[in-house]
Amino acid sequence: MTRRPRRNRQTAAIRDMVQEATLHLQDLIFPLFLIEGQNQKTEISSMPGIYRYSLDMLLEEIAACVALGIKVFAPFPSIPEEKKDKYATESHNPEGLYPTAIREIKKRFPEVALVTDVAMDPYSSDGHDGIVENGEILNDETLEVLGKMALTQAQAGADIVAPSDMMDGRIGHIRQVLDENGFQKVAIMAYTAKYASSFYGPFRDALGSAPKAGDKKTYQMNYANSREALIEAELDTAEGADYLMVKPALSYLDVIRLLRDNSHLPIAAYNISGEYAMVKAAAQNGWIDGEKAMIEILTSIKRAGADIILTYFAKQYAEYLQK
Ligand code: PBG
Repeated sequence: MTRRPRRNRQTAAIRDMVQEATLHLQDLIFPLFLIEGQNQKTEISSMPGIYRYSLDMLLEEIAACVALGIKVFAPFPSIPEEKKDKYATESHNPEGLYPTAIREIKKRFPEVALVTDVAMDPYSSDGHDGIVENGEILNDETLEVLGKMALTQAQAGADIVAPSDMMDGRIGHIRQVLDENGFQKVAIMAYTAKYASSFYGPFRDALGSAPKAGDKKTYQMNYANSREALIEAELDTAEGADYLMVKPALSYLDVIRLLRDNSHLPIAAYNISGEYAMVKAAAQNGWIDGEKAMIEILTSIKRAGADIILTYFAKQYAEYLQK
């Protein structure tokens, strides 16, 4: 045999030298859950190790993460039912929970970058990412709300606004609203290929944001499709997106690779709540080694072509690096 691939796997030094994909802490974005009140920290039962925090406690958590080397955060607000309505009006109240938190975080941690969520679902009494009329999700009317929401977040200090709603034309509309108001420097991370997935369950528990009726299949993508992701990527790029995202990550590694090979923009992947929950549940049962599975999963997402990973494991990975 002249070719023996095992020669390159002989020792740790050699394996490390020929390793192709590497996971850096700076590749990771840590999603955080925000609730009203003070001195509140409640664990999300389907996401062991992940909590909803009131703003005072959230600032403490961010301080701990910054000390571990995490620099980018993606907060999501949990809005009480009585503040929700059909038009997600609370989403563009500058004194609301979310803009207030964005201002406070940027004031206390100017070096941190914030990726903020632009979507109606946490604020919608229908639990949808758009305005619902006779069971239909209205597209263009929803864009108006998204524009106001993105502007409110930019005014509060968001570095990157991230529309997670999958309405048509949202990137162009948000870019226009931001630019008209002097926020040319605020970037847009587009949830480009966001699939209608069963793995969002724990996130919807965390925020109480599940649809009250119907599903999200008229706006989120069919998981059987990948060419359609290229159409979304072309549009988001033409409309001014600065980053493209694939969500979820694990059942969509091929889509991550597809976008990586067809775009020059940074590609993000969202390792979502259900993907986190599966690892935690199996590890708690002693069925897998949770830490090893975490590193394997995150590395595989990098190998597939993601530059950036949004993951609930960010802090646990940072803690692992400290060991
Ligand atoms: C919707 C939104 C979703 C997530 C974040 N924003 C999906 C959904 O509820 O349809 C899911 C994130 C996760 O599961 O970790 N705007």
